[in-house]
Order: sequence, then structure tokens, then C-alpha cells
Amino acid sequence: MTVDISQFIDIHVHILPGIDDGAKDLAASAALAEMYAKEGIRQIIATPHFIPGTAWAAGREKVVEKTAELQHHLDERNIALTVYPGMEIAYHKKVMDRLEKGLLQPLGRSNTYLLEPSFRDTSDDLLRCVKRVMDKGHGVILAHPERIPSFQETAETLVELVGKGLQVQLNIGSLLNKFGEASKRLAMQLIDADCVHYLASDAHSVKSRRPVGEKEWQILNTLLGEPLLTRICIKNPAALLKQ
Ligand SMILES: [Fe+2]
Repeated sequence: MTVDISQFIDIHVHILPGIDDGAKDLAASAALAEMYAKEGIRQIIATPHFIPGTAWAAGREKVVEKTAELQHHLDERNIALTVYPGMEIAYHKKVMDRLEKGLLQPLGRSNTYLLEPSFRDTSDDLLRCVKRVMDKGHGVILAHPERIPSFQETAETLVELVGKGLQVQLNIGSLLNKFGEASKRLAMQLIDADCVHYLASDAHSVKSRRPVGEKEWQILNTLLGEPLLTRICIKNPAALLKQ
């Protein structure tokens, strides 16, 4: 059985114009939106980078405002795509502090935050932070941990935290071998260990890390099978948006 690509809800997309390394302006955002609409995909979550101390640090209010602006632009052009506000929060020491001050945007209306691990170092601090956020009753989804060298060395702590409620989002590109062998290996290992909750594009533009198309979707369907693909691309994202 083939899963219908139009049901896919992409929870990790850099579509907001001009606030990170994703779409550079409204026209680029609309072009990206059109790629989704062309596949019949109706819902995505905008997740601009939040990296404090850099130019990519738009706070919650700005993200909500930019999402509404983009939605208006798409509606005017009859591009049938609903964009929900979200944020890809780079791990930093003040995550909990900023979260409690309401500066960070969860995914849609949920109480779940998309957290990006650092590529250079990880682990102990990040994992402690995840635990603190979860202890306060929030959900945490870790963005593409399969791309992080320290997790590629050992996934033990990651798997342990998943047992405690941490959720994991893989990048489609990792499964398609676009980020190297080690990323693909860990992605498959996490899938085999039943530690994957979401699969998303992490799309940045119509060229770089583009949204999934029918051809790639077929490959994913074969690789993962219908039940898993449905769960991590459709059911779990839909449940997140309903929260
Ligand atoms: Fe991202």
C-alpha cells in the first residue's frame, strides 16, 4: 500500500521570509508553499531558527506576526496551504528561562517545543535541559539528532531519554542519505529501536533541502512501510496540531 503524500504534515520548515537561512523573502516563501500545494499537502509548521546572540533570533511575537503575514500572502494567491507558527530552538543555557518568560514559540498551539541539539558538543547539558523542560510538563521534540556526531558515537542516553518521554524528529534527507552514512545509520538504528516520532523535511528553499516530492515519498514508503510512515508523517503531526 502506498501512503498518500497529500496527508503529510511537515512539522519542520524554514518558510518564514527573511528571519533565518530559509526563505529569503515573501516570494521565496510563496514558491516553497507552492511546492507543498502541488503535492496536495495542506498543513505545515514554520520553524525558524532561534539562536540567541545571532541574527537568527526572532522571538515568539515576531514569529506569530510573520506567520500571519505569510498566511495572508498565500490566501491572496489562492495557495492552499495552512502554516502554523513554530520555532527550532537551538539548545542554549537559557532555554528554560526564556520558555518560562513566554519568549519561545511551541509547535502550533501545542505545549511541545522543537529543540535543536548543538552540532559541536552535546550531551550532558542538553539532556539535563530536556529533562527540566519535560519535568515542567512541556513536550520536547529533538530535531534531527541523527545528524549530531556525539549521538552517532553512542545513542545510549538518547534512547534512555526517549523512554522518559523525549520525542525524536528525523530529517527525510538523512534517510535518503543526503547527510552522509553516519546520519543514515543512526536514523535507521533509532527507527529499529522504536525511538522515532516524526519525520520532517527541514526544508530551507525550493533548491536547498527542498520539500519532499512524490519520488522521494515512494522511496520512504518502501523503506519504512505504510504503518510507520503514516504514524511519523501523518498521525503524530496531526495529533500535535490538535493539542
Ligand atoms: Fe531546521
